[in-house]
Amino acid sequence: TKPLRIGIAGLGTVGAGTLSIIEAHGKLLAARCGREFHVTAVSARDRTRDRGVDLSAVRWFDNAVELAADSEIDVVLELIGGSDGIAKEVVETALANGKHVVTANKALLAHHGTQLARAAEDARVYLGYEAAVAGGIPVIKSLREGLGGNAIDRVYGILNGTCNYILTAMRESGRDFSEVLEEAQALGYAEADPSFDVDGVDAAHKLAILTALAFGCEVDFDSVSVEGIREISALDIAYAEELGYRIKLLGIAQQSEGAVLQRVHPCMVAKETPIANVEGVFNAVVAEGDFVGRILSEGAGAGAGPTASAVVADMMDIARGSTLPTFAIPAAQLAPSKGTSMAAH
Ligand code: HSE
Repeated sequence: TKPLRIGIAGLGTVGAGTLSIIEAHGKLLAARCGREFHVTAVSARDRTRDRGVDLSAVRWFDNAVELAADSEIDVVLELIGGSDGIAKEVVETALANGKHVVTANKALLAHHGTQLARAAEDARVYLGYEAAVAGGIPVIKSLREGLGGNAIDRVYGILNGTCNYILTAMRESGRDFSEVLEEAQALGYAEADPSFDVDGVDAAHKLAILTALAFGCEVDFDSVSVEGIREISALDIAYAEELGYRIKLLGIAQQSEGAVLQRVHPCMVAKETPIANVEGVFNAVVAEGDFVGRILSEGAGAGAGPTASAVVADMMDIARGSTLPTFAIPAAQLAPSKGTSMAAH
C-alpha cells in the first residue's frame, strides 16, 4: 500500500507534537495501519524555529491554502486555529480537493461544523476532530464507536484544562483567580485569547461538537448557555470545600422534552464523586448510554503530547480507510438549519 502523504498546516505546539509522534513511532504506526506515514509538506510562519525534528526533506509552503490544494497530499492537518479566516479556508480547500482533513480546531467546528461535515460527506473524505475535544481523551471515538449501539441520554464533563487548572490551584493555595490565571497562561494551556478559556467559550465550543455527535443534531454553538469562572473567588471555593463540594466548570448536554439542552457553568460537585477528583489540567467526560450505563474517561485535556496523540489517532483511521461520517446527522437534518436545529430525533 502507498504511504499516507501528510501536509501539516500550522507548526505550533500541536503540529510539533504530531511530528514528534510520527518520528518516534513511525514503525509502530506503519505496523498498526499497514501503511507508512510520510509528512511531505508543511506550512508555518516561522521556518527557522527548531521544532526538534528534521524537516529538511519536507516541502515548505508560505501559503497554507496552497498546501491544502496540493496534489501530492492525501491528508491535511489543520493546526492553525481560529473559527474563521485562514483555518476555515484551509479546511474548505482541502475538502473541495478531495483530501481528508484532521483538525484540532474546536472553534471552527463549533461555528461551521455542520457545513464542513456536509462538505466532507459530499467529497467522500474523512473529517477527523478527535483532537478538538478534551485533548488526549479519545472521547469522539468512544461516543461514535465504543458507545455506538446506545442512545445517549446525557454527556457532560470538564472540557477546559485551563479552568480546571485555575480552580484546582485556587483551592490548593487559597490564591485568587487573576494570580493563578497568569500561571496557567505561562504553562501554555490557555487559548491565544484566555478569555475564551475563563469565560467558558472554549468549553462551549467543545460541548457543541459533543452534542452534535452524541445526539445526531446540527452543531449549534449559539444555543449553548455559557458562564465562566471569572466570578469565582477563593472564598467561594473554601466554603464549597467546607460543605463537602468542589467547584468545577462543567459542560452539560442532555435530552429534555424532545430537545437537547446545552450549558456551560461552574457547578458544585460532591467531593467523593470521581469528577470532583479530576484536578489540574486534566479533563473528564461522562457519557450516559441507555444500554451501557455511565462511562467516565479522564486524561490530559491540553498540551502538545496529548493533543497530538488524538491527531495521530484520526490519521490512523484515515490510513486504514475508515469512512465514518463526521457527526452522523440524519440526512434530513443536514439541510440548512431553520433555527430549530436542536430538536433531537
Ligand atoms: N485552552 C484549552 C484548554 C486547550 O485549556 O483546555 C485545549 O483545547
